[in-house]
Amino acid sequence: MSMLFPEKSSEPASQIVDGKIIDGKGIARALTDQVGREVAKFVEQGNTIPGLAVVLVGNDPASEVYVKNKAIQTHRVGMRSFMHMLPQSTSQDELLDLIAQLNANPKIHGILVQLPLPAQIDPVAVTNAIAPHKDVDGLGEVNAGRLSLGIDGIVPCTPLGCLMLLKSVHEDMTGKHAVVIGASNLVGKPMAQLLLKENCTVTVAHIHTRNTKELAREADILVVATGKSGLVRGDWIKPGATVIDVGITRVPAENGKTRLVGDVVFDEALPVAGHITPVPGGVGPMTIACLLHNTLQAARATQAVADASS
Ligand code: GUN
Repeated sequence: MSMLFPEKSSEPASQIVDGKIIDGKGIARALTDQVGREVAKFVEQGNTIPGLAVVLVGNDPASEVYVKNKAIQTHRVGMRSFMHMLPQSTSQDELLDLIAQLNANPKIHGILVQLPLPAQIDPVAVTNAIAPHKDVDGLGEVNAGRLSLGIDGIVPCTPLGCLMLLKSVHEDMTGKHAVVIGASNLVGKPMAQLLLKENCTVTVAHIHTRNTKELAREADILVVATGKSGLVRGDWIKPGATVIDVGITRVPAENGKTRLVGDVVFDEALPVAGHITPVPGGVGPMTIACLLHNTLQAARATQAVADASS
C-alpha cells in the first residue's frame, strides 16, 4: 500500500483514515463474547465454572479501576470472580500465604496479582509463587520460559492482545522487521518472543538504546511500550508501518479535565502509518479480553488433567 498523506490527496480525509485505525475495542468485544459462549458450553458440559482471583495490594487509584473492570468483565462472561484487596502495608509473607491458599482452591483456575506492588514486596517472588497452571498473567518463570522456548504455555495478556491486533491486519508476518520499544517483563520481552515466533526479525530498544528513533524508522511493525507519553513522533515511523501503542497515560486536557494518551503522538503518526492503534480503545481493551481467554484456557487444562486421572 502506498503512503497516504491526507493533505496531498484528492480523497476526503475520512476515506484515507478509514481502515487504518485498528479497532481494539471491537476486536476485544468479539473475543469477550466468544469467551462467554465458550464458558457457557464448558459449564453445560458439567465442568466447574471457571474462577479468576485478582489480588490488589494497596490503593493505587489506576490499579483499583483496572481490577474492578476485570471483575465486571469476569462476571459478564459467566465466570466466578474472587477479589482480594489487601492494605499497602501487607508483607511479602502475607501475600505469599494468600497465593498458597488460592493455589490450593479448586474453585480458582486463574490468579492475577496486580502490578506494581508496594516496595516491600518482590514482584518476581510473587509471580513465581503462583502455580504455573493458574498463572493467567503468564509472568512466572515457567510460562516465561515456555514462551522463550517457543512452546505452548500461558502468554502474558497485553502482548497476546497486541499480537491479536497485529494478526487482524497481517495474515503473515514472516520476514518483517519488528521493533519493540520497551523491554519490560510485562510487555516488551514477551512481545519480542511472540514476534520471533511469527518469524519476524526482532529488535528490542530500551532505555539505554542510543539510536531508538533510527531503529523505529526501520520498523515494518512498531510496538511501543515505554509509559513515556508522546515519545514516538510522526517522523519516527516508516511510511506504511503498523504501529501498536501500548502506552496509556492520563494528562491534563485543554478543558481543565484530563484525557488518556499513548506513547505515540497519534495525530502525527496517523497520516504516516499503514495501521495504528488508538489510545484509548486500542490495546487496553484487549488486555482484559485476553485475561478472560487465558482463564478459560487454564480451566480447560485443569479439567483435562482431572479427566485424565479419573
Ligand atoms: N499492571 C498493569 N498491567 C498489568 C498486567 O497485565 N498484569 C498485572 N498483573 N499487572 C498489571
